[in-house]
Amino acid sequence: QVRQIKTVAELRAFRQEVGRHPQRVALVPTMGALHQGHLALVKAAWDRCEQVIVSIFVNPMQFGPHEDYGRYPRTLDHDMELLSAYPGTVVFTPSVEEMYPTGPSWTIVSIPRMTGTMCGLHRPGHFEGVCTVVAKLFNIIQPDMAFFGQKDGQQLAIIRKMAADLNFPVEIVAVPTVREPSGLALSSRNQYLDSEDLRRAPRLYQALRQARDRFEQGERTGSVLLDVVHNVLADADITPEYIALVDYHTLEPVEQITDRPVMLALAAQIGKARLIDNVVLTGS
Ligand code: PAJ
Repeated sequence: QVRQIKTVAELRAFRQEVGRHPQRVALVPTMGALHQGHLALVKAAWDRCEQVIVSIFVNPMQFGPHEDYGRYPRTLDHDMELLSAYPGTVVFTPSVEEMYPTGPSWTIVSIPRMTGTMCGLHRPGHFEGVCTVVAKLFNIIQPDMAFFGQKDGQQLAIIRKMAADLNFPVEIVAVPTVREPSGLALSSRNQYLDSEDLRRAPRLYQALRQARDRFEQGERTGSVLLDVVHNVLADADITPEYIALVDYHTLEPVEQITDRPVMLALAAQIGKARLIDNVVLTGS
């Protein structure tokens, strides 16, 4: 019931077939090691489209030389099993050679105005890798809609802007972050956490939530909200890589919150995992 397609040529042929009917095609790009967060995207996609294509591709181009490309979890059999809950799903699983047949891409899609901050600052080249592979997937699959998780808030904002700037005829849909009961955002990288890490990791979201509470009580000054996050993390002996308050759409830093939505985001190393999380604040 779940069909696997491994080549660009076969995927294009399938897309042409589907395109003869008045159907909406959704793309859910992933790197596999699927969990309930990914499945929430698949569900949202089936809610709005007649055909869903999930891509599973651990994209070497978005990993830095000292990052976890080699040990990133690859669990295709289990992924296919999870996806069998959504019959009709097509899974695109190209090899590295299929996506980059002549070696590393010579073409690089970049959005310098949005990558000099937050994760972009700490992972040089990362979002260029993400934008390039997502642009390739958009061209190969030609989806009407593409679904991204709010968990990767900077990625979502960047993909939105890329799609608009490059006139991709695709609607970018954001899906809320799926969390453990503890508040910890689901992530494929949570597999790197040991039991002690798992005790500390929920603090990340607790810190963001305390700041959100302050916001909801009327606080609109960025530095105050950033301090709230800092203090909660310091109490748990967590040194964040960054904490940032930025405009939801442009990622420009925000000092005083107005009626535009903002994102309060952070990254921190917990044990062997680099974790990120964010909350979106919208008020008036
Ligand atoms: P990956 O980390 O596998 O995530 C795939 C999609 O699932 C992303 O849109 C991400 O935001 C979403 N996601 C992950 N955890 C989530 C959670 N707890 N709740 C909701 N959504 C969640 O992001 C990537 O892969 C890659 O960069 C990719 C876009 C596929 C390009 O290679």
